[in-house]
Amino acid sequence: MDSDLDFWTAKALLDWQIEMGADEAIRDAPLNRYALNDTPARPAQPAAAPPDPITVTTDAPAIAARAANAATDLPSLAAAMQAFDLCDLKRGARNFVFADGLPAARVMIVGEAPGAEEDREGLPFVGRAGQLLDRMLDAIGLSRRQADPDLAVYITNVLPWRPPSNRTPERPEIELFLPFLERHITLAQPDVLVLMGNTPCQALMGRAGITRIRGQWAEVLGRPALPMFHPAYLLRNPTAKREAWADLLALKARLMSQP
Ligand code: URA
Repeated sequence: MDSDLDFWTAKALLDWQIEMGADEAIRDAPLNRYALNDTPARPAQPAAAPPDPITVTTDAPAIAARAANAATDLPSLAAAMQAFDLCDLKRGARNFVFADGLPAARVMIVGEAPGAEEDREGLPFVGRAGQLLDRMLDAIGLSRRQADPDLAVYITNVLPWRPPSNRTPERPEIELFLPFLERHITLAQPDVLVLMGNTPCQALMGRAGITRIRGQWAEVLGRPALPMFHPAYLLRNPTAKREAWADLLALKARLMSQP
């Protein structure tokens, strides 16, 4: 270890690695350190060319789109997303988070990305924001635990992997996973979409600015879509619950008017 590293810096670095998912202090392949001193110095070799980052970034969305469109049902879509390796978020996350609730539900809710709890459990919206979401849905008679498609919801996120330190997803990450999200919606065939916060609005409507667009019905992939405040925002700004309640009532009214 670097002798300049004090205890607290070293501990913070270790905590960070654990937070990123490192749970074993080993390399990919065993290293015989006794043999290291005996190894004659190798003549300098020209370094192998690193992969061209432009090719990687240009091809990744096309590869994602091909993988998404090849999926014929939700289990094969989940498998394709989980196998998709061209995103660094996967390496920092513990668990793949695909969806929860009833796939046949009339209402499909799209959130942003897993947080710490979701990453631990492999399910969307199970932390504090998720508990508030469940209470909001319950207030209009909907639940992710319902077996009746009229009363159930199906829940997913724009990203299936937790961004480090719960940061907001970046545009390239959103665009990379957009084909999977669109395929997810097409396969689930909900009657109505609810977009929680800016990230799903940016992904599916090409616009953010949730304070202005919340409560205004839009069309996404031929379906009515309602942008709403994200429950995490409501936890930080309880006065915005009044608007959220109005949006929930608008959702309920829409479901009742289109049996
Ligand atoms: N916030 C989200 O947008 N999604 C989750 O799954 C959890 C928190």
